[in-house]
Amino acid sequence: MALNDPNATPWWRDAITYQVYVRSFADSDGDGVGDLAGITSRLPYLRDLGVDALWITPFYPSPQHDHGYDVADYCDVDPLFGDLAAADELLATAHDLGLRVVVDLVPNHTSSEHPWFRAALAAGPGSAERARYLFRESPDGPPNNWGSVFGGPAWTRVEDGQWYLHLFDTTQPDLDWRNPEVAALFEDVLRFWLDRGVDGFRIDVAHGLFKESGLRDQVLPASGDGHTGSMVERRLNDEPMWDQPEVHDVYRRWHQILAEYDGDRMAVAEAWTQTPESMARFVRPDELSQSFNFGWLLAEWSATAFADVIHGTLTAMAPVGAAATWVLSNHDVARHASRYGGGERGLARARAATLTMLALPGSAYIYQGEELGLPEVDVAPEHWQDPASLRTGQKGRDGCRVPIPWSGTSAPYGFGPGTGQPWIPQPDEWAALSVEAQQGRAGSTLEFYREALRARRRYALGAGDDVRLDDEPRDVLTVRRGPLTVVLNCGATPVPLPDGDVLISSGRLEDGKLPADTAAWLQTGR
Ligand code: NOJ
Ligand code: MG
Repeated sequence: MALNDPNATPWWRDAITYQVYVRSFADSDGDGVGDLAGITSRLPYLRDLGVDALWITPFYPSPQHDHGYDVADYCDVDPLFGDLAAADELLATAHDLGLRVVVDLVPNHTSSEHPWFRAALAAGPGSAERARYLFRESPDGPPNNWGSVFGGPAWTRVEDGQWYLHLFDTTQPDLDWRNPEVAALFEDVLRFWLDRGVDGFRIDVAHGLFKESGLRDQVLPASGDGHTGSMVERRLNDEPMWDQPEVHDVYRRWHQILAEYDGDRMAVAEAWTQTPESMARFVRPDELSQSFNFGWLLAEWSATAFADVIHGTLTAMAPVGAAATWVLSNHDVARHASRYGGGERGLARARAATLTMLALPGSAYIYQGEELGLPEVDVAPEHWQDPASLRTGQKGRDGCRVPIPWSGTSAPYGFGPGTGQPWIPQPDEWAALSVEAQQGRAGSTLEFYREALRARRRYALGAGDDVRLDDEPRDVLTVRRGPLTVVLNCGATPVPLPDGDVLISSGRLEDGKLPADTAAWLQTGR
């Protein structure tokens, strides 16, 4: 297929993208932290797994207070992870193997060590340097009642008495996107990485760049009426700091920049919007390519919850003509095997939800280690690293960021050439979960993922965009997509399968029936 054929489906519309959390994927130099050369060395593994692309979390110079989401220089590589030559090598090797590469862009905030923020502090109140961020005078306490996502107030006071806004950590000051210098900086950053050959961008906090002007107080929900985060439930929060209409002009501009380049360059929004309709606004035809569908990840283990999200997503996407995306795990949430209850049952459910996801039209994201069935790790408080934990004293996101076990029987399980524990310690019982232990072992989660990704290419990709959901019974989700039927049993007892040939299942069938916590694909004819 010609790369620039306007009639061809762009590669990302039905891609499987594998999320690499750079610090925890593979360590080439034995310092206990993953790096770019480590990723490059493991690219053949990703090709053999059967994914189309990888998204790499931020590897730019950063004091690492939020593990790279606090960027001090958008156009370089942190020495912890390598250098620009290592990034070029990674890109070239990935492309040789037929893999696309998506990098992370963090436009909502910089690190407090970014030259712009240092200059803002040095230049003082009223300066052009301060006008790139959201500094405010407010003698009697913070300028408004906004809270940081990581806990505590969203404002920090500097020596001269002004306050600056940070929706995340104190070390992550929010930029003022109403200042044209900010927009200009990020256009240059996009071009810098596009010129180096990246295939796309994952846009961090894509719904956050603009705040309602005036920075008024947020109307907080009455207690007991909190928004649950579920996109299915329609009690919306008042959110003057998120999802403002002005942000869409930025994405229209970025759309044009991406279109100047060959090869279907793309961008995917990390936008925790409150409804599927607001998610769809980010992927209107002249805006971004994709938006993560967090409704799928937030759905509880229930056939009706999954059905609601599938229906809500496809209904919201249809008018804008965008393809859906699906995701169950990432570096910010507890791993889905543990979310669904943990242990054998949690893993069975995780495999079943994954198999269901892989049948749906659009594209899906998988997070490193889910193909090994890794559980959320209960990291001991003395090893906590997540800035949210450091602000709140609560368990945070470290448990899904434990380095990958590749081989061997003790830490670091082939993660790197070192002998000790990596930056977050790995559990003693991970030997059986390593890539080496699961490779070629029938029934292992790794072999299941490989088989499922093969089955997806063979049976799901050509099955069309038309999806029908059967109504009954309540505990069973039945999705029909062309000749492909997917059945997911969220109930407690085995259920009979519809007529048809079973193509793949997430666990063993029992006397031809689909056991609890299991999914199967069938070829049923139209
Ligand atoms: C979302 C990222 O996924 C998360 O890891 C980070 O802490 C925040 N954005 C702030 O950049
Ligand atoms: Mg390293």
